Amino acid sequence: MINQETKERILEACRIEEVVGDFVSLKKRGANLLGVCPFHNERTPSFTVSPAKGFFKCFGCGKAGDSVTFMMEHEQLSFPEALRYLAGKYSITIEEEAPSAEMMEAQSQRESLFAMMDFAKNFYVDYLWNNDEGIAIGLSYFRERGFTDEIIRKFELGFSPDKWDGLTSSATGAGYKEEILGKAGLLIVNEQKKYDRFRGRVMFPVASLTGRTIAFGARILKTDPKSPKYLNSPETEIYFKSKSLYGISHAKKAIVEKDVCYLVEGYTDVISLHQAGIENVVASSGTSLTVEQIRLIGRYTKNVTVLYDGDAAGIKASLRGINLILEEGMNVRVVLFPDGEDPDSYSRKVSTIELLEYLTKSAVDFISFKTKLLLSDTAGDPIKKAGLVRDIVETIAVVPDAITRAAYIRQASTLMEMSEAVLIAEMNKIIRARNNRQGEETSAPVQDHAGEVLDSIEKEYTEEQLINDEHNTEVHEEEIIRILLNYAEEIFQLPDFNKYLDVEPVKGKQKKKGLGRDEEEEKPELQHIKVKDFIFDILQTDGISFTNEGYAGLLAEFANLITNETDYDAQSFINNLNPDLKPLAISLVTPKYELADWKSKGIIVRLDKDRIDKTVVDAMVYIQKKMANKKAMEFQNEIKERSEVGADIDELLAHYQELINLKMVLNRITNTVINK
Ligand code: UTP
Ligand code: MN
Repeated sequence: MINQETKERILEACRIEEVVGDFVSLKKRGANLLGVCPFHNERTPSFTVSPAKGFFKCFGCGKAGDSVTFMMEHEQLSFPEALRYLAGKYSITIEEEAPSAEMMEAQSQRESLFAMMDFAKNFYVDYLWNNDEGIAIGLSYFRERGFTDEIIRKFELGFSPDKWDGLTSSATGAGYKEEILGKAGLLIVNEQKKYDRFRGRVMFPVASLTGRTIAFGARILKTDPKSPKYLNSPETEIYFKSKSLYGISHAKKAIVEKDVCYLVEGYTDVISLHQAGIENVVASSGTSLTVEQIRLIGRYTKNVTVLYDGDAAGIKASLRGINLILEEGMNVRVVLFPDGEDPDSYSRKVSTIELLEYLTKSAVDFISFKTKLLLSDTAGDPIKKAGLVRDIVETIAVVPDAITRAAYIRQASTLMEMSEAVLIAEMNKIIRARNNRQGEETSAPVQDHAGEVLDSIEKEYTEEQLINDEHNTEVHEEEIIRILLNYAEEIFQLPDFNKYLDVEPVKGKQKKKGLGRDEEEEKPELQHIKVKDFIFDILQTDGISFTNEGYAGLLAEFANLITNETDYDAQSFINNLNPDLKPLAISLVTPKYELADWKSKGIIVRLDKDRIDKTVVDAMVYIQKKMANKKAMEFQNEIKERSEVGADIDELLAHYQELINLKMVLNRITNTVINK
């Protein structure tokens, strides 16, 4: 026990701004410091730290306290644990009071459980390394799996003897009572007998945030259909399943550094990724993901990437996790491993570099993930597509922040080729229904990017209207104008479109259809082109005109610039616009702060300058797709009419076929370029 004098020295040494400052970024505000409260979700800082008074107070949620209570609350430490942490921070040597008999008695139940678990962990570790059975069965198992000795030591893996009283006899010999073994979940006691819970299994100690053992996961090595593969500790006074994450003590530093947390399913996934050098990883081992676990991650980062198996169970689990994470106002991406692989097996198959590359390359945001997953079986089925739209909009509706929701809606609108207005109306319906259910206004009405409340367009859309949105090009017109206004003079590298053309021969003039492809070229050469030239090239070759008056007006102004060979300059362009186009143009020039803000939330901003090539190509391919759809429908009608009167339709059919080929190519481009 820490003696009174040490306690006082620790409390004196603490500087509240330094203690809090390790976890919360603080800015000076007069005599105080201000930051975003770590105890509740907020966007505008209301968390105040007073160095003079030595305490913190949040004016949003009301939490307040001193350095010790901050550590207890923030890191979920007990009082002595918090003192020990602070003593470490300020290099104060702890003087313990000699543990008297009474004090042993008085020692809290928690502390003795911690001691018990620590003893058990050391016992299992010792048995693994130093006992013949442990070495022959446990250690050789870990080594065969490819774990290095270093990683086995780091995660303090162990082995439990295949005996009824292996741990119990050793622990009682060391002075631990059977009662405490029972309370720690290590000894099972029933009417007939008492016996060790864990026997003949490899042991994975589960640690608290500060690295103290609070539970075990134990894997069987034989195949025994009667016993579960993993046996986990029951809940105790120090172990709350839903609040603990396997690997968190080793991961927290790396999570903060990398500003992302990888979430995996099992113990071995965590360990293997560590061995591959990826340390920002935790598992929800033994339970399905809980809100508390997500909040725990949320203290260190707002970005979670879910790495699950590609099998049905893994996909189902990740879908459930996605909604939970979004509800907490965090950003989520998903990586699926090829069927049959998990992070553990995959990380052993490939090099660290390949693994990291896989994690970054195949991580998709949840909208792309869901769309890809569900769109594959909605192909051509309008009712199913309407279902998919609802499903995705329902997920977006759980996001607490309106600006983030708006960004997701934009993205969903492009991916699903639906107008933003329709999606927003759908989402607002869901939010309203939810608010009515809860009898309170939890989410503000959704606004579009220009800040207009979209209540006016919140009419009810029928299923049919939802589907018939397919030919509406307005959303793409807006995107193209937005790109021109922001990046008209930017030069980017054209992707190599040839690789999308190799399945079906594309005949005649389609070859030239605006995609910058040159017949003469044997080997594709990477082209550089100005944004405005690329856009006008396609619009002109394809004869695309805009349907929305405002966007069409702005497009005409850009066309003038190009005819006059004048370079675009945002300032003078907007100044010279006629008054009815000006407000629209201004609303589409992306404000810098907005970009920065969205970026910090991990949302891919469609006008991200780093990805200008993708943004521009996406926009042009989408509008071409819509035009192709429209034309295909016109052709179909004409073919039908003509064949009814017995006229010749050969030429029409040929044109129609060309169009279908073009659509296929465009689909291929959107499926590969877009979803990266
Ligand atoms: P897995 O069956 O995928 O286990 O379960 P694993 O971690 O990949 O283990 P290996 O590779 O077969 O050795 C994933 C996680 O689900 C929990 C464990 O936390 C496990 O790590 N689990 C699984 C249980 O709690 N009990 C079980 O019976 C099975
Ligand atoms: Mn596995």
